[in-house]
Amino acid sequence: MNNRGSFGSKLGVVLASAGSAVGLGNIWRFPTEVGQNGGAVFILVYIAFVLFLALPVMVSEFVIGRSSGSNIVHAFQKLAPAKWWVLVGLMGVMGGFMVLSFYSVVAGWTLKYTVDAALNRIGGADPGQAFNSFVSDTWSPLLYMAIFLLLTHFVVIRGIRGGIEKYSKLMMPLLFLIILILVGCSLAMPGSADGIRFLLKPDFGKVTPYVVLSAMGQAFFSLSVGIGCLATYASYCDKNMNLAGSAFNVCAIDTLVAIMSGFIIFPAVFSVEGVRPDAGAGLVFITLPHVFGSAFSQMPLVGYFFSTLFYLLLLLAALTSSISMHEICTAFVSEHYNLKRKHAATLVTLVYLVLGAACTLSFGPWKDYTLAGMTVFSWFDFATAMFIMPVGGIFISIFVGWFMERRLLENELTNDGTLKVKGLKVLFFLIRWVAPVGVGMVFLNELTKLFN
Ligand code: PHE
Repeated sequence: MNNRGSFGSKLGVVLASAGSAVGLGNIWRFPTEVGQNGGAVFILVYIAFVLFLALPVMVSEFVIGRSSGSNIVHAFQKLAPAKWWVLVGLMGVMGGFMVLSFYSVVAGWTLKYTVDAALNRIGGADPGQAFNSFVSDTWSPLLYMAIFLLLTHFVVIRGIRGGIEKYSKLMMPLLFLIILILVGCSLAMPGSADGIRFLLKPDFGKVTPYVVLSAMGQAFFSLSVGIGCLATYASYCDKNMNLAGSAFNVCAIDTLVAIMSGFIIFPAVFSVEGVRPDAGAGLVFITLPHVFGSAFSQMPLVGYFFSTLFYLLLLLAALTSSISMHEICTAFVSEHYNLKRKHAATLVTLVYLVLGAACTLSFGPWKDYTLAGMTVFSWFDFATAMFIMPVGGIFISIFVGWFMERRLLENELTNDGTLKVKGLKVLFFLIRWVAPVGVGMVFLNELTKLFN
């Protein structure tokens, strides 16, 4: 299939890739991890891992994608010396299927909270109870999950330029604007000084091996690396694109958004007596509605505005990420089975609907169907974030660092010598040594957790 489509501009590529990276991982998972792992210290460690670990894997993905001009499986077929490398690509496609299946569940909750916030009926008297009774219901979470997947489908079938690029260019600036407004609102709240202190003043006594390893896992998930997502996007890029520079920009945008989300959430959380920053996964769906209710009880209009914008932000972020997960699979299915993009995307969406339903029901009627104590949702989450993404990342960086011809790699990064890239030697070192060893450590950590 030659007619694969392409991005129309450099800005389009960076915004689409940043859209992939910026997601629930930044606005939902990052503040959760910061809250539980000691605030500022976690952020410092996180930034180090973004630079030393995730950035080199991202550059490697960009190189694989653009030099092959193919979906992630065919990319390894074209570039790799031995046949078995294709397995790394297939693992990526499988990861793409699994990651969106559980992601669409949380995205569905986000959609429901966006609708509720807009209708001014969020939380109620007991936000915890409201959340639990919603997620354990059978039909309504299924419905929201399905609507979310259809929204994703709607963008993906429109192709690269008319779908992914166009909507990223629309949604990402809107997302930045909402973030700025919300940071402003949150900083104006009475408890903001405590929130800011929590975010900015590192307490080095809190650095534990667990904090270090959680930060690595978070960096990986948040930057969408390891399953060929960004490689797939890069396969639609033209030869003028500065791969290393773009990867750096995507990392910078993603980190900035994650930290700004902290600046939205913690000043608000610290403004309400008795609310703790380490509430865990319920922070966004339980703690925040409570915060909105209490902190704005005197100013209901501001509360309405703040909460509606907040969930809309979360929804936009989730959507630009889910598109990229869908694209890994759609690109592969359409090119491998020689199907029209529209048909391939429809097939992929149908599979997602089935898998997504299984993940959704594991909070309700299927919650007792477990394997080793984990539901379908937990298995998908665990298998992708803890296994497929790190292992994929190790192989991707080893492949580019050790098995790709050095000249080819240099040509890709410098666009055949026409670009001056600063720190190229350092980048090579990061790709060859630091990334595989570092990611290997995250992986071993997860394995030891499994056996304890
Ligand atoms: N990076 C996305 C987030 O932060 C998640 C993601 C993972 C997207 C894997 C694509 C691929 O939410």
